[in-house]
Amino acid sequence: MKDILLIFVLTFALQAVCTNDWTKACLGGSCSFDIEETPTNMGGTIQISGSSSSVSDITPAAGWQILNCTDSTNSQTIRLVCTNESLGCEHIFQDGARDTIVRLPQGCGRGPFVRIANHTISEDQSLPTNINSRVIKRGGTVTQVHALQIDDNFAQSSGQHGNVSFEIHAQGDFRVNNDSKQSKRQTGSGSTSGAVDIPAQSIFFFDTSLTCPAANDTTQTQTISGSLAAIQTQFDITVDVTSTGTMSPPNIETLSFSAPMNGALALDTIYNTGLQGSLEAANIPLGSAEFPSFSIDGIVEINPTFLATGDATMVAELLSNFAPLSSFSANINNLQFTFPSNDPPANVDITIPNGPFDVLAEPTLNSSAQFTFASLYEFDVQISAFSQSVDLSVAYNYFNDLQLVSTPSVNNSEQVCINITNSLAVAVSNSGAFFDAFSGTQSQSIFAQVVPVLSSCQILELGPSPQVALGTRPSLYSRDDVSCPPIATLPQTTIQIID
Ligand SMILES: *[C@@H]1O[C@H](CO)[C@@H](O)[C@H](O)[C@H]1NC(C)=O
Ligand SMILES: *[C@@H]1O[C@H](CO)[C@@H](O)[C@H](O)[C@H]1NC(C)=O
Ligand SMILES: *[C@@H]1O[C@H](CO)[C@@H](O)[C@H](O)[C@H]1NC(C)=O
Ligand SMILES: *[C@@H]1O[C@H](CO)[C@@H](O)[C@H](O)[C@H]1NC(C)=O
Ligand SMILES: *[C@@H]1O[C@H](CO)[C@@H](O)[C@H](O)[C@H]1NC(C)=O
Ligand SMILES: *[C@@H]1O[C@H](CO)[C@@H](O)[C@H](O)[C@H]1NC(C)=O
Ligand SMILES: *[C@@H]1O[C@H](CO)[C@@H](O)[C@H](O)[C@H]1NC(C)=O
Ligand SMILES: *[C@@H]1O[C@H](CO)[C@@H](O)[C@H](O)[C@H]1NC(C)=O
Ligand SMILES: *[C@@H]1O[C@H](CO)[C@@H](O)[C@H](O)[C@H]1NC(C)=O
Repeated sequence: MKDILLIFVLTFALQAVCTNDWTKACLGGSCSFDIEETPTNMGGTIQISGSSSSVSDITPAAGWQILNCTDSTNSQTIRLVCTNESLGCEHIFQDGARDTIVRLPQGCGRGPFVRIANHTISEDQSLPTNINSRVIKRGGTVTQVHALQIDDNFAQSSGQHGNVSFEIHAQGDFRVNNDSKQSKRQTGSGSTSGAVDIPAQSIFFFDTSLTCPAANDTTQTQTISGSLAAIQTQFDITVDVTSTGTMSPPNIETLSFSAPMNGALALDTIYNTGLQGSLEAANIPLGSAEFPSFSIDGIVEINPTFLATGDATMVAELLSNFAPLSSFSANINNLQFTFPSNDPPANVDITIPNGPFDVLAEPTLNSSAQFTFASLYEFDVQISAFSQSVDLSVAYNYFNDLQLVSTPSVNNSEQVCINITNSLAVAVSNSGAFFDAFSGTQSQSIFAQVVPVLSSCQILELGPSPQVALGTRPSLYSRDDVSCPPIATLPQTTIQIID
């Protein structure tokens, strides 16, 4: 019973927050405008306040009837007439109409609030017949047809009505999924305003082969390849932005970002090298999405996006025949942060299970190879207000490092050490200065963990020296930044480590 009551109270509270009251005029120095969360936009509220003459209203609730207005821009000249003086039409003239911030009715202007840039009595005093009958002419100036030049150029305001401050709160629920069927179902549920599908995929970022000279005057096809399989990419995130500032003069005083989230990541990296050299692949696209936005035209726009990219490098010297596969997965539970205040302190529970790996290697003496793969999963919330913009982001940095080093050992053998580590770091940051809210870039680390996957050294006896045909010049066999390694003695056994 208690629960039912609580649900009633909550439902009522939410409805009260999400409904614009067009029956009550904003004549007391404050006004608010709400946007309901839908599949196409984030929900939120803007509340403005100032001196009693600084904020006014030209909707029918304040007695005004607008005769011509377009919803395609905030900057226009509109004609309007007072149809009921007792509702408070004259309020906009308090301390002069100019630079008063007024609420517009639905369908007029692009945003809910504009500045009166100029006020005149319209040269065109004609009225449509349906309005004519409702205007009680008493010869006063209020009942004449007025012309208002309106715009959202708040920076041009003289400030004669004093500062007008605002508070904005915007919220949206987003989902990133690797399974399109599931994400479609979630979009239909109504609570999630944006759901995108990042399909599980396999991406090759290195893939080169060369015909190389081999022992006894033969040749052999040697390859170098690197690929990623994104097995799972899932995030459930609620973006929450609160900002305070002034419209007159335009300024953002505070900006607070939080994005509670749950998620799961799983990926495999697979490498192989029989060549030497170095390769680099930057900005490998793994998936991206734009989510529904929040816009109060002329004041603020909030655009959340998701972007996943990868960077891969490889460096190999001599013939290592290093072919590792490693898997990484992480479960992200209940990420909580408030940026930049860190109050309450950021918190997250991330579990990284020991992923399986499978390593093959047949290195020649003094050979080495290193592969790295770094991927960035970034939720970016771009805030544009007045003339400036800033990006707030929460980023997951994954780093995968695989190394093999062969060094000489006693009795015609080599010591081969293989290291594999994974690491994951989560940080929230802003891109730079933004009004009074940020004086520069700030970054806050939420989580960082290095996961050693494999660290193993073993001694391999070297085999018989290969016969190298005279005149074999491996340096001829090269392409881009990779080349055939010189023919050298292989170990008598191959390394294979599987977990
Ligand atoms: C409204 O009418 C006035 C006078 O006719 C004109 O100057 C103005 O551009 C019109 N505004 C719109 C939005 O049509
Ligand atoms: C004007 O508004 C007052 C107060 O709401 C209302 O009582 C009155 O009926 C209105 N007059 C007209 C002509 O609409
Ligand atoms: C306001 O409009 C009047 C009449 O069109 C014009 O003379 C005056 O220069 C305008 N003032 C401003 C500040 O735009
Ligand atoms: C109005 O805003 C300006 C600029 O943000 C600020 O310097 C000033 O103190 C404010 N005035 C009042 C009365 O709050
Ligand atoms: C996608 O996500 C689901 C979990 O919803 C998971 O079970 C599955 O293995 C993932 N990968 C593919 C290729 O569907
Ligand atoms: C090269 O030839 C020698 C002698 O003919 C032979 O013993 C050896 O196995 C051959 N090596 C390879 C790699 O084929
Ligand atoms: C391997 O490197 C050592 C020095 O670290 C050097 O003395 C040796 O000659 C090298 N051997 C080969 C086969 O390159
Ligand atoms: C190297 O070979 C010698 C002679 O065969 C042997 O006595 C010695 O134990 C070997 N050393 C190692 C480290 O295997
Ligand atoms: C492998 O890892 C261990 C411990 O992390 C480190 O001491 C060693 O230097 C690493 N070896 C290589 C070849 O990176």
